[in-house]
Amino acid sequence: MSCSVPVLVITNRKGGAGKTTVSVNIAAEFAAKGQRILLVDLDSQGHCAVGLGVKMSAGQAAIHDIFTSSPLRLIDAVCETTINNLFLLPANPAFQHGNSGNDEQCLARALADKAITAQFDLVIIDTPPSLDNLLLNALSAAHWVLVPYVPHPLSFEGVRQLVRVLFKVISGRNPKLKILGFLPVMTANHVRQHRQITEQVTKQFGALRVLNGIRADIKLAEAFGVGKPVRLYAPKSRGAEDFAELATTLIQLMKK
Ligand SMILES: Nc1ncnc2c1ncn2[C@@H]1O[C@H](COP(=O)(O)OP(=O)(O)OP(=O)(O)O)[C@@H](O)[C@H]1O
Ligand SMILES: [Mg+2]
Repeated sequence: MSCSVPVLVITNRKGGAGKTTVSVNIAAEFAAKGQRILLVDLDSQGHCAVGLGVKMSAGQAAIHDIFTSSPLRLIDAVCETTINNLFLLPANPAFQHGNSGNDEQCLARALADKAITAQFDLVIIDTPPSLDNLLLNALSAAHWVLVPYVPHPLSFEGVRQLVRVLFKVISGRNPKLKILGFLPVMTANHVRQHRQITEQVTKQFGALRVLNGIRADIKLAEAFGVGKPVRLYAPKSRGAEDFAELATTLIQLMKK
């Protein structure tokens, strides 16, 4: 069951693979193009709020409340950000990831609410570094999945494990799910290992599926530190340039 509002999931079971950096920055790019974006932070680390400079108050409603016995209406937990067209469904930092139950459709059902489908053009979901029920909820609701990876050997293994889960979901509960692409991040072309790993990913998953990467750029980490997407923090940086190009590519791919 994918939702009626388009949903893009950013995932990799490996920690530190650039998921949140990609989620926040791509959300900001789409919002700048006039799309009404809802960024959903399924990772209780709560880094999307940090990256967007959204201050959380104690006991604030959060996306993880849909997994409790008295689930909330999502629209009541949506927070404004300082960026036009960009809204956040924040994480609950106290949520234990093992407490999401067995129902893989909670999120799809919650997103199907008219109050959400009428207000947003695209939902982007940032996921925790795990292959658990939270990820299955995200994938069950999704139309597309984008997989950022750091081009080193352990990361390739993480991508392979994730792809096995993706194929299971596609051949079962969500046949409409499409793998939008594999996105190398923190890349440096002069590093031979980076080229080799991306060649491996290309060989295994097909050249069309491997997108132009996001180069290593300290501005991306600094932007997080000040709670802004890189397009606002350092508009002339490599990071800003790469995310603008990625947004254009993704919009084309999502039209197909
Ligand atoms: N292209 C890049 N250049 C430089 N630093 C980057 C780049 N992309 C991400 N980073 C930095 O790498 C670290 C990990 O990135 P990020 O938090 O986005 O990964 P993640 O996959 O969301 O991690 P987790 O699995 O813990 O949620 C962060 O400190 C981030 O600022
Ligand atoms: Mg993250």
